[in-house]
Amino acid sequence: MTKVVARPGSARTRALRLLAENHSNTELVTPCRLLLVFIVSSIMIAGISFSVVPEDFQDGSLEEVINLTQQPYTFNHEMAMKEREYNLEYYQRPQHNWKVERRSGLSVSEFFDTYDAKWPVILTDVVSKWPAINWTKEVFIQKYGKERVVMKAVVGGLQHATGHALPLEVFIDHLNEASFDTWTYLEDELFLVMRPELRKDIGQNEYAEENFFNLFPEMVRPWDCMMLWGTAHSRSTLHMDPYNWTGISAVLQGHKKWKLIPPGQDHLLYVDPEARCGFPLECRKYNSPIDAFDVDTKKYPRFKRLQVLEADVYSGEMLIIPTGWYHQAFNVEQTLALSQQMMNRNNYLAILEEIIKAGNLKRKKLPTYFSTLLPPDQVKVLMSLLPKKVLQHGHDVTKDILEQIKKTKDNQNKVKSGLEDGQENMSIWV
Ligand SMILES: *[C@@H]1O[C@H](CO)[C@@H](O)[C@H](O)[C@H]1NC(C)=O
Ligand SMILES: *[C@@H]1O[C@H](CO)[C@@H](O)[C@H](O)[C@H]1NC(C)=O
Ligand SMILES: *[C@@H]1O[C@H](CO)[C@@H](O)[C@H](O)[C@H]1NC(C)=O
Ligand SMILES: *[C@@H]1O[C@H](CO)[C@@H](O)[C@H](O)[C@H]1NC(C)=O
Repeated sequence: MTKVVARPGSARTRALRLLAENHSNTELVTPCRLLLVFIVSSIMIAGISFSVVPEDFQDGSLEEVINLTQQPYTFNHEMAMKEREYNLEYYQRPQHNWKVERRSGLSVSEFFDTYDAKWPVILTDVVSKWPAINWTKEVFIQKYGKERVVMKAVVGGLQHATGHALPLEVFIDHLNEASFDTWTYLEDELFLVMRPELRKDIGQNEYAEENFFNLFPEMVRPWDCMMLWGTAHSRSTLHMDPYNWTGISAVLQGHKKWKLIPPGQDHLLYVDPEARCGFPLECRKYNSPIDAFDVDTKKYPRFKRLQVLEADVYSGEMLIIPTGWYHQAFNVEQTLALSQQMMNRNNYLAILEEIIKAGNLKRKKLPTYFSTLLPPDQVKVLMSLLPKKVLQHGHDVTKDILEQIKKTKDNQNKVKSGLEDGQENMSIWV
């Protein structure tokens, strides 16, 4: 008989229990299962190593007692995929009915059980209550017009992007000038964070209240509120968020179109496995060179096999993008939005795994009892084991960025940080 010792109340325990109960005499063949088979076999065909599904799942019973306290901690990717697949089945999301639902009045527990870390959802009654919904261009020009913001200019396709730091009023002045492959996009991680009077206009989001990022030492904690203001046609890259966190995108004004890629399709995305994100706490960067809104199928033929969901998100709405889903946003019209992130019971293992994978600490440093701890305690223990030099590096990177901003404010001069110098003669506006 099956016996599993794991963290109390975890989604995995529940999934294992239900799998064990269901699998003895029921064969579940559903589109979702077929999708998994398709994904797994494509991965195998693509020659990417993917170890065999554990035997105890093949015959549907767990023979051995899994006592986690006796095993060193390892992240079990197969198990994570199983759990995801189980959830897809459990919540009945057959492939032919793939869509992103709009919900209001959703309870936090239904959110955790049904959507979080599993399926994207659009919440229609969160952002509309934030005072930030009433921000206007005029106020930005009046109060912050001379302050520099970080922006990207693209001329002739997503692959031709340059970074700039320009006064906000210059950016706003040109907000109407854009075409399908030439546009500008303000993407500033610190503008709001550094201005508490604006930050406070971003109200509550009860779905993100469980926030394990708060347990990170400040010097390596990700910034929590990025401002995104784009002309029509501006877009992000097709990417996974840092540490595979769960993404939050709140549209204040405008209209965003999304491409959302269910997990397990990395082999179709041409991602550079060596890329790093360069954050204070290093992480792998999963970025596809493909523009999903303008695909070059000659250069990227595998894209044609990709399963993609689409969604439109309008002013006052919030999209939650589960961990493990690649995504790309396209601003249909001038759009002002915010992005935030979540780390909670449903995705913290993936995030911790990404932190380990990027080389911030050695896996064997984790104590053998690690898996038996409650989720927040696991996060605290892992943080407490980060080597001094990792924290020092985080501290230096953060200090460097803050100093550059200060300089920028003081003398309106050029900025560095991987951006090109603050060129004012952007060819896009000539
Ligand atoms: C799991 O292993 C620990 C440490 O060896 C032991 O104390 C505990 O009794 C075991 N639990 C079960 C359910 O076997
Ligand atoms: C936005 O402004 C309108 C009109 O002044 C006001 O009725 C509304 O309450 C404001 N919304 C928020 C969330 O502050
Ligand atoms: C994070 O996402 C990448 C890209 O899809 C994937 O290869 C990796 O396995 C994910 N990490 C975890 C811990 O799930
Ligand atoms: C600035 O203008 C000069 C002269 O027209 C041009 O050579 C240069 O490429 C421009 N810089 C940018 C970033 O557009």
